[in-house]
Amino acid sequence: MRKKVTIVGSGNVGATAAHWIASKELADVVLIDIIDGVPQGKGLDLLEAMPIEKRDSHVLGTGDYADTANSDIVVITAGIPRKPGMSRDDLLNTNHGIMKDVVGKVVKYSPNCILIIVSNPLDAMAQAAYKMSGFPRERVIGMAGVLDSARFRAFIAEELKVSVENVTAFVLGGHGDTMVPLPRYSTVAGIPITELMNAATVERLVQRTRDGGAEIVKYLKTGSAYYAPSAATTEMVEAILKDKKKILPCAAYLEGEYGIKGLYVGVPCKLGSKGIEKIIEIKLTAEEKAALDKSADAVKELVGVIGV
Ligand code: LAC
Repeated sequence: MRKKVTIVGSGNVGATAAHWIASKELADVVLIDIIDGVPQGKGLDLLEAMPIEKRDSHVLGTGDYADTANSDIVVITAGIPRKPGMSRDDLLNTNHGIMKDVVGKVVKYSPNCILIIVSNPLDAMAQAAYKMSGFPRERVIGMAGVLDSARFRAFIAEELKVSVENVTAFVLGGHGDTMVPLPRYSTVAGIPITELMNAATVERLVQRTRDGGAEIVKYLKTGSAYYAPSAATTEMVEAILKDKKKILPCAAYLEGEYGIKGLYVGVPCKLGSKGIEKIIEIKLTAEEKAALDKSADAVKELVGVIGV
């Protein structure tokens, strides 16, 4: 039987994720939204693209949660995006309200699914969804680190004029201004970037990574990034559906790992068919640990505001 992925929210991130997932034939896709007509129209449009793409993924756009029943994965992208001058944190209360509406309906129809949370502010929304769903932490995963590290990788590849395939990078912490790109663990063909660039260049790329989302918002003016966020989501979906045991930076509920308890923070995770199958603890320097703690404190403040 084919796998089934539901995407909640048919805006740019949701619809583009549906596009990547269907065009890679990873699963049948259900696109759902409260806005009548948009998921139906985009879903049908994608379905009609499948013969050209030679893919048999079925795509359905709907407003009825019954159509999402028994999904293997549900990706939640619903919420408002930020506008220029806004931080992700400014979306907190509105998107928490939307999350409250969505999670209960998702869980009712797909009690065994794995949830991937994409709505911002990412870590706080993942924590809200985790608490509301009652799912084990293995099945509620936040998408942020794959996106942030993809940005870092793109900047490194461009700077050194090497293939993006040669570049791996790690970004830990919350998906916000305090995120923690780790140059020591970022490599080109296995060589740490700290051996290939001077410290000022590394710092410039680190800062550009931290500001990566805002850089796009500034250009677009009416919304935020969606190609890279949806591609990042798709990599997580693929790792789970194909049980790849792939190590990716994801927002996970920590229960003492990295000295952090009861909080969603971005850390390296092994993704497979059960969701987060392992949280990998890497050694951090005192400076890196302090940066991670500061980032965790920023998440803690947000979850405190919404009381989750
Ligand atoms: C970004 C938003 C989607 O980083 O959080 O582009």
